[in-house]
Amino acid sequence: MKLYHAYPKLVNIVGTSYNGKINFMAVAWHTYLSFDPPLYGISIAPKRYTYKLLKESQEFNCNFLSYQNIKLSHGVGRTSGSEFDKVKTFGIALKPGEKINTPYIKDSYAVMECKVTKEIHTGDHVLIVGSIENIISSKEYFTEKELLNPQTVTPILYLGSNTYLKIEKCKIEEYPQEINIDEWLR
Ligand SMILES: Cc1cc2nc3c(=O)[nH]c(=O)nc-3n(C[C@H](O)[C@H](O)[C@H](O)COP(=O)(O)O)c2cc1C
Repeated sequence: MKLYHAYPKLVNIVGTSYNGKINFMAVAWHTYLSFDPPLYGISIAPKRYTYKLLKESQEFNCNFLSYQNIKLSHGVGRTSGSEFDKVKTFGIALKPGEKINTPYIKDSYAVMECKVTKEIHTGDHVLIVGSIENIISSKEYFTEKELLNPQTVTPILYLGSNTYLKIEKCKIEEYPQEINIDEWLR
């Protein structure tokens, strides 16, 4: 069964490291889970090399890259760190982690650093729950309301089956917080 009807999904490049090994993989199944405490979930198949490292390190980062980095993003999603060093092979420029040991991808427009709090085995994936310890982002990529600024960032959106959606020209619209029910009843 193809499970693509809830796409597009923002691609999250999940990094983790243990014992000198640093690895990144593409993740489409990820979500915020709680405001207070701030929690983030990533769904990882246990056969991934990332899962093996995560079990040891108990930490991960979420790197969000703009569309210019599509080849790197797809590359880390179609190769395994169990076979070679993706950081070296793909020439990934890193910056040292701020609140965790794992370095993050320098070119990210936003990064979340997380510590694992729970893992939930669900079907053929494991939902890794992480507490968000730190967020690294640059002001130029977000508006005053801290919304992604599509004028400065083109996010990598995955449609499934090795196919991506690139937003080149787009319009953003804002709607009121309060809904006037009378308007609907008229
Ligand atoms: C766009 C994209 C999204 C993906 N999303 C997931 C995901 O949510 N969970 C998962 O376990 N694998 C996902 N994968 C597959 C892994 O990224 C892939 O198996 C990768 O080779 C694992 O790397 P590793 O063995 O170094 O951990 C995705 C792949 C791509 C290309």
